[in-house]
Amino acid sequence: MYEMDEETTWICLEEIGSTNDYVKDRRSEKRNITVTAKRQTGGRGTKGRSFSSEEGGVYLSQLKFYENLPAKNAFTIMLTAAVAVCETLRFYGLTSLVKWPNDIHVNRKKICGILIENTFSGDKISSSVVGIGLNVNNPLPDELLNIATTMSKEGGKAYSVEEVTERLLGELSKQRTIEEYRRYFGYAGERVTLLIGDERVPATLLSVSDEGKLRVETATGERLLSSAEVSVRIEE
Ligand code: BTN
Repeated sequence: MYEMDEETTWICLEEIGSTNDYVKDRRSEKRNITVTAKRQTGGRGTKGRSFSSEEGGVYLSQLKFYENLPAKNAFTIMLTAAVAVCETLRFYGLTSLVKWPNDIHVNRKKICGILIENTFSGDKISSSVVGIGLNVNNPLPDELLNIATTMSKEGGKAYSVEEVTERLLGELSKQRTIEEYRRYFGYAGERVTLLIGDERVPATLLSVSDEGKLRVETATGERLLSSAEVSVRIEE
């Protein structure tokens, strides 16, 4: 266990079900905690999906408490994490982009997923858990080979997971803006399929609003969609 700064404790684990669940269980301690694990046995993604977490990747979660963060600014938490991952990859010479809202892609394949779980008090966010899974040298299951990638596949060499983790933690400590997120916003202008409930809607991706909503053009006109109501499928 290390003190990262005066307010944050960093815990390194060998194995855990999910680093997000680990810090969520410690919310009652009311202090900022970062936890990293070498592997997860029950890694979780968004929308109830699982997240493959073999040894060799970065699996980390940060629990943070806020005094006065309006719920309408929730997207700042996501954009800060997404830009931190993209900047980390850039340091290692890998060009990445955001597949809105929470995936990071390299060469059209997912290299990282972000899972954010907030608690609210009235119209304020009282705490957030930012969970990041970054594929570094870890093996990927066969079913993900067409849609996911790793730093080692893209860079053609193995990376030090400890170094990548420390760089990512450094990037996560910086404040980011929506403009920085927009610079990494991927697939703008491309035809995609939107999954909205049971509907599959063809659309063109346009941009992201200041609040983090997705702007798209559909046959019925322009629409602004939240991540809760839509999933985006790009062409492989
Ligand atoms: C997604 O791709 O939908 C989000 C994946 C988030 C995975 C990370 S790994 C660390 C943290 N612990 C989890 O169980 N999930 C997040």
